[in-house]
Amino acid sequence: MNAIPVLNLFSQPQCSGFEPKDWEILAQHWYPVAREQDVTTAPQQVQLLDVKMALYQTTSGAIQLVRDICPHRGVPLSKGWVQGEEIVCPYHGLHYNTAGQCTKIPAQPDLTNISERFSLTKFPVVLKYGLVWTSLFSRDASHANFPILDTWDDPEHQPVLPPFVDIAGSSGRQLEGFIDVAHFAWVHQQSFADAENPVVPKYTTERTDYGLHTEYVSNVSNYPHGLQHLAPEGFLWKRIFDVYPPFSAVLKVEFPREGILKILNACCPVSHNKTRLFVPLTRNFDTTGDLQAVYDFNAQIFAEDQDMVESQKPEELPLDITMEAHFEADRSSTTYRRILAEWGLSKRYIV
Ligand code: FES
Ligand SMILES: [Fe+2]
Repeated sequence: MNAIPVLNLFSQPQCSGFEPKDWEILAQHWYPVAREQDVTTAPQQVQLLDVKMALYQTTSGAIQLVRDICPHRGVPLSKGWVQGEEIVCPYHGLHYNTAGQCTKIPAQPDLTNISERFSLTKFPVVLKYGLVWTSLFSRDASHANFPILDTWDDPEHQPVLPPFVDIAGSSGRQLEGFIDVAHFAWVHQQSFADAENPVVPKYTTERTDYGLHTEYVSNVSNYPHGLQHLAPEGFLWKRIFDVYPPFSAVLKVEFPREGILKILNACCPVSHNKTRLFVPLTRNFDTTGDLQAVYDFNAQIFAEDQDMVESQKPEELPLDITMEAHFEADRSSTTYRRILAEWGLSKRYIV
């Protein structure tokens, strides 16, 4: 059996603010790190759970994700460049192929048997909903708990992928905010909700094999202010949330005239207090409408949320249910916290 190249192993970066046990658990799951459309032959740095990665496309179009550190002298490969199917480190010009092996040391061109110690750590790549997904530890995506956005490839629905949003807050807090129906009247009164309509009707939440499922019916419109006359008088809006722990959820909103909007809230936990949020969505109405208007409305809503999520303390979700106070309309949130706690994540996070 071949010895494992020592430099291929890695553990939690020293700078990481996650508790070590939490990091080990979260590292087994899959997250989006970039939009596929943003990947080019110019290597770029992305970060997942404090691990820096170089993301690039080879000349033939293969998307590669490797640890952003050259095994020779530790220079980030994202400062290098792509040559054909290889990435070149800018410091001493070492070449690495798509298997992560070093194929060339220009200072010693006659070297035929390059040590495996020069190999890069490669991460798996799965393309889904216009996003590049990966995992630090998992190498088998077949059992991954990917969120299901089944309308993404449906010709009757228009797929839309707005720009990502960087949030100075934890992914747990952000995800919980996405499924929180009691904040609409307060945080979103400028965009779609109504400060005079704060009551949350009773709703149901159930545990599922993938996470949890919530159905919420209310008269809170999902149209922006200015378009709310488009809904018939007395229309009841149904919102269905499917949560895929740790940090993804799909919201389906049933619009008048059989309109369906689906929004995937997919967090990349960049660090314990930093999140890159991707929001692919689909709709079967206004499909020829102005996309910029969708981007703008989406950005407005997430900016309204961002101020709350970035100021919450503690930064990470307190999974010990007794650490915060809850009312009945928080049922989705408390169920979400219980699932994460059952996974073995910390009861008490860093403040
Ligand atoms: S540090 Fe990358 S080639 Fe030397
Ligand atoms: Fe919100």
